Amino acid sequence: MRVLVANHPLIAHKLTYLRDVRTDSPTFRRLAEELMTLLAYEATRDVRVEPFEINTPVAPTTGIKLSSPKPLIVPILRAGLGMLEGMVRLLPSAEVGFLGMQRDEETLEAVTYANRLPDDLSGRQVYVLDPMLATGGSLAMAIRYLAERGADDVTAVTLLCAPEGIEFMEKDLAELEIPITLVTGSIDERLNEQGFIVPGLGDAGDRLYGVA
Ligand code: PRP
Repeated sequence: MRVLVANHPLIAHKLTYLRDVRTDSPTFRRLAEELMTLLAYEATRDVRVEPFEINTPVAPTTGIKLSSPKPLIVPILRAGLGMLEGMVRLLPSAEVGFLGMQRDEETLEAVTYANRLPDDLSGRQVYVLDPMLATGGSLAMAIRYLAERGADDVTAVTLLCAPEGIEFMEKDLAELEIPITLVTGSIDERLNEQGFIVPGLGDAGDRLYGVA
């Protein structure tokens, strides 16, 4: 798995406000979207494109356009939904599928409760969005599932990661033969006993949408 930490002062600046306990939900939602747009620039560096002939007012030229099939964007419900707009702003022609996953708060094991994805993902380039990579259980399960359905290139985008989660994903997904990339705004210090990223930002789903 390739891991890219998007080092950019604007990302660090917006992450600081996102982490701040004083930041309210409307501001948190706006920052999560803006951060996603900045991370999308990094995450789509290898998006598949093909040559495209056009005429400018002056002369014919060859440009590029996104290849078909178009990329598939998969936000992990609920918190990944807070990143979706920021991603489709840059890739408006992408398709969007949904996976609902929740961590059991006792065992920290991920459970899938919703799935609205095409059955066949053969040849698809997929972008999975989830703000937090804590133990790595949710994202690893999601990527495995996408690969089993034929996705042949998966990029996960997270706002924050715990080093323990990255290590888990590297081991858990080692036998998958497809390219997997993780793009993140920060690798934080550690995971605490409750499975929260430290310093982190708390529970992204709750801060986006309120306690459920
Ligand atoms: C959080 C977060 C990730 C997951 C990360 O979701 O949004 O999906 O936990 O944890 P992991 O790396 O240990 O699997 P949560 O279960 O709180 O659900 P929510 O998005 O509906 O709030």
